[in-house]
Amino acid sequence: MTDTFKFLLPENRIPRAWYNIVADLPAPPPAVLHPGTGKPIGPDDLAAIFPMALIAQEVATEREIEIPEPVREIYKLWRPSPLHRAVRLERALDTPARIFYKYEGVSPAGSHKPNTAVPQAFYNREAGIRKLSTETGAGQWGSSLAFAGSLFGLEVKVYMVRVSYQQKPYRRALMETYGASCIASPSTETAAGRAVLEQDPNSPGSLGIAISEAVEVAAHNADTNYALGSVLNHVALHQTVIGLEAIEQMEMAGFWPDVVIGCAGGGSNFAGIAFPFVGKKLREGKDVRVVAVEPAACPTLTRGTYAYDFGDIAHLTPLMKMHTLGSSFVPPGFHAGGLRYHGMAPLVSHAKELGLIEARTVHQNPCFEAGLMFARSEGIVPAPESTHAVRAAIDEALAAKEEGRPRTILFNLSGHGHFDMQAYTDYLSGKLEDRDYDEGCLQASLAALPQVAAE
Ligand SMILES: Cc1ncc(COP(=O)(O)O)c(C=O)c1O
Repeated sequence: MTDTFKFLLPENRIPRAWYNIVADLPAPPPAVLHPGTGKPIGPDDLAAIFPMALIAQEVATEREIEIPEPVREIYKLWRPSPLHRAVRLERALDTPARIFYKYEGVSPAGSHKPNTAVPQAFYNREAGIRKLSTETGAGQWGSSLAFAGSLFGLEVKVYMVRVSYQQKPYRRALMETYGASCIASPSTETAAGRAVLEQDPNSPGSLGIAISEAVEVAAHNADTNYALGSVLNHVALHQTVIGLEAIEQMEMAGFWPDVVIGCAGGGSNFAGIAFPFVGKKLREGKDVRVVAVEPAACPTLTRGTYAYDFGDIAHLTPLMKMHTLGSSFVPPGFHAGGLRYHGMAPLVSHAKELGLIEARTVHQNPCFEAGLMFARSEGIVPAPESTHAVRAAIDEALAAKEEGRPRTILFNLSGHGHFDMQAYTDYLSGKLEDRDYDEGCLQASLAALPQVAAE
């Protein structure tokens, strides 16, 4: 009989500093390049859309970066987040494995995204910015920035991928409740949006298109900055509060994980749980396997090319070296909207190239099967994105059962699925298809990767 189901830290154990993995990596990550000159970008190149404090974090090399006190205070609204032992899931699986999960769905917006939305809003307000523009896929990031903006008196405008805008009216309502405005993308408000609509008036939109719209608005308005919910180094940095807390909580539980798992869209929640553990491995030689799980229909880390690419469709962003399916790649429809991105966080990509992490893919039906099993044993309905991590954790536990050997599994439950119930309804009524991406479309998209001399 296991006594403890939840490992809880008091508020004074909220980390005082974020962890920067760059300090511990055996090789520095490749430079970010200017799209026009092909030369490494400098702070001034980014100053039109980001505050200097975030630009400094983007290129920081020190191991610890202090979390400002006002941010720590807001973190107290939901942090430290709980670490659960999935005792009832272990029993349902009849596995000798110990399964732990860090639950980020306790945040006001329901996912890990406020961990970075709050500091991004804070630094922008400190820099005198009044408005933020951003994109959102499934709506988790848009509602997180809307929440953070409301705390700091910032106006937030969210370009929401059209198909999600139509599918998820309550996410839109949540953003509006926090005081943000939410526009279906592609829109007629921006040149990037109009260009897409000219080609395809019924375009369902994509994250790449919505990013172009949000960046364009920030670049053209002096009082407006842009905020990104994933991919960039400073976003991964802010998310390390997840792993830093989890290390303490695993110590409380008396176990070191054999494997740490996270789903990966742009890579931020995965980096958040994984990087502090990878850091321990690099500094102290503590062994741990680290697994990123991505959708089979958008297999960036497993099938993408490691190359310089743009972060958006209109090529407004700098060039980042990352695993990419090409900025024009449009994955087939599936429910985990937050995992439908063509690129991957450069730091996650670099860690994969260095052999520090593994990646695997799963189709959506087995993910929802895992999500249901989790809901029926642990009670929490996982976000469609998070079901990818649940699936991988269950597979690890079943492998332990097959081998008849215990192992300790830790995964990040990045969010709840309360706004995603249509996906569960579709699964329950047998309507979900496991579609593969189109190989021809992938090859065409990869063939259009920018040629970069520095490679
Ligand atoms: C609940 C949840 N998990 C995971 C993701 C994927 O993003 P990332 O890879 O940046 O963590 C998203 C993105 O919207 C999300 O909403």
